[in-house]
Amino acid sequence: MRTPFVVGNWKLNKTIAESLALVTDLKNQLGAVKGVAVGVAPVFSALHSVAKRLEGSSIATCGQNCHYEASGAWTGEVSAPLLADAGASWVIVGHSERRQFFGDTSESVGKKARAVLAANLGAIVCVGELLAERDAGRTLAVVDEQLAGGLAGIDAAGAAKIVIAYEPVWAIGTGRTATPAQAQEVHAHIRAWLANRFGAATADTIRIQYGGSVKPSNAEALMSEKDIDGALVGGASLEAADFIAIVKAARPS
Ligand code: PGA
Repeated sequence: MRTPFVVGNWKLNKTIAESLALVTDLKNQLGAVKGVAVGVAPVFSALHSVAKRLEGSSIATCGQNCHYEASGAWTGEVSAPLLADAGASWVIVGHSERRQFFGDTSESVGKKARAVLAANLGAIVCVGELLAERDAGRTLAVVDEQLAGGLAGIDAAGAAKIVIAYEPVWAIGTGRTATPAQAQEVHAHIRAWLANRFGAATADTIRIQYGGSVKPSNAEALMSEKDIDGALVGGASLEAADFIAIVKAARPS
């Protein structure tokens, strides 16, 4: 059985004080939740404070991105080992906003994922098609290409520290969620791809999150699909009550 994993991606939001207020609520209210793993991805400037506040809880602190080199002349970047040093245990790589606005490619996402694993952290590798690609019937081909690049050079041992997040770009921040059936179709395809790459037994253990306008009202229907193992939540992770409701919806019934 895969333990669902629900991660709040706060994007470019929240001061240190606001971040601490939110995680304090989460820590107090999610302390007793069983059967679901939880993480939050604050901005880098708040990450260390958040990780400190979460010490002694099972809520993981995640980076939203990293550079693929560990150190050096890379002004403005942060590396996986330094995120680990600041208290992160996971790093999101290949988010569609990184691909769209900051030049991330499937190849660089793969380098980042390998750097994350080399730093002994878990990598959440994001994939997902644009609306035009879905309309052109290219969804599965796009996802295949992003998986091939994002997981390049990763073996079955590395796969144990990988989570895939399927986030259709047209559903991110738009209020327009994929239907559970639309999401499940892609998740099943991703699992088959993983089985082909790593073997069925390993593929069965890899969690595949759904992301894109997940909210309390649609979380349970999405996460009751067979191959949907949690969620990567943007907007609805900024309020404790909404995020907690989504976490609770992910518990296996
Ligand atoms: P959203 O964002 O929940 O606001 O759609 C999801 C994401 O970008 O990870």
